[in-house]
Amino acid sequence: MSDQIIVDVKDRVQSIRMNRPEKKNALNGAMYTAMTEALLAADSDNNVRAIVIGGTEDCFTAGNDIADFAAAKPGQASPAIRFLETLAATAKPVLAAVSGVAIGIGSTMLLHCDLVYATEASRFQLPFVNLGLCPEAASSMILPALMGTHRAAELLLFGEPFSADVACKLGIVNQVVTVAELLPTVNSKALQLAQKPPASLRTTKMLLKSGHADAIKQAMAREGQNFAALLQGPEAKEAMTAFLARRKPDFSRF
Ligand code: COA
Repeated sequence: MSDQIIVDVKDRVQSIRMNRPEKKNALNGAMYTAMTEALLAADSDNNVRAIVIGGTEDCFTAGNDIADFAAAKPGQASPAIRFLETLAATAKPVLAAVSGVAIGIGSTMLLHCDLVYATEASRFQLPFVNLGLCPEAASSMILPALMGTHRAAELLLFGEPFSADVACKLGIVNQVVTVAELLPTVNSKALQLAQKPPASLRTTKMLLKSGHADAIKQAMAREGQNFAALLQGPEAKEAMTAFLARRKPDFSRF
C-alpha cells in the first residue's frame, strides 16, 4: 500500500488519510489504488463500521496529479475512476474531514461521502473547464440535483474556488468547524455510527442511494468518455503545460 495513503482501524472506524503534503496531497495512481483497496477492505471487515477520509492538517487534496493527467495515454485504465466507482458503491458510511483545499476530485469525491465536515478556511473548487476537461464523478448530475442547474453551472463553468460556508449552504458540507474541532467532531460522529446496528446502517445507506444509483453510474460513464477525449485534446494540453510551467494558459487559438 502506498505510504502516501495512511490507513488504520481504531474503535471500529477505518481512517484513510491522504499524505503527500509537498504536492498538496495531489492524487497519483498508487494513491487512488491504495484508497480503493482500503475501501474494499473496510467493506469486507466486520470490525469496521464507519470510514473516515481525510488529508493533512492544512490540505484535503489539490485533486488529480496534473503531471499524471499530462502524461495520460489514450485508453489507459484510470485508477481514479475505479476509486470513484468503489467509493460510490461502498456499503458502510463514509465521513469526510476537509481542511484546506479540496480541488477537483477533492470536491467531487465528497458527493459520494455520506457526511462531510469542513474547516472554516477550507476552499472547494471544480476547475475542470479551466483545465480543458469536463466534470467527473457524476458531478454533472449530482450538483444540479443538489443545488439547481444555475448554481451548478456557476461552479462548473467558472471553476472558481468557493468557501466552506458556501459549500455548506449548497448542501455539499454538513457542518463547518474550526481546525481544532475538525478531527474531534468527525471522530465523534464516526464513533456514534460505529455503535449503531451495522445492518440497519448499511440498509439505510443503500436505501438513501438506491433511487439514483443507476443514474449515477450512467452519468459517470457519460462523463468518463468525454473526459478521456478532452484529456487527449489540445485545450487540456495547453492548460496542463501552463500549470506545470507556472504560466497563465492561453486558449485564444482554439
Ligand atoms: N498536481 C500536481 N502537483 C500539484 C497539484 C496537482 N493537482 N497541486 C499542487 N501541486 C504541486 C505544485 O506543483 C507544487 O509543486 P512544486 O513545489 O514541486 O513546484 C506543490 O504542489 C505546491 O503547490 P503550489 O502551487 O506551489 O502551492 P500554492 O499554495 O501556491 O497553491 C493550490 C496550492 C492547490 C491552490 C495550487 O497548487 C493549485 O491550484 N493546484 C492545482 C489544482 C488543480 O487544478 N487540480 C486538478 C483538479 S482536476
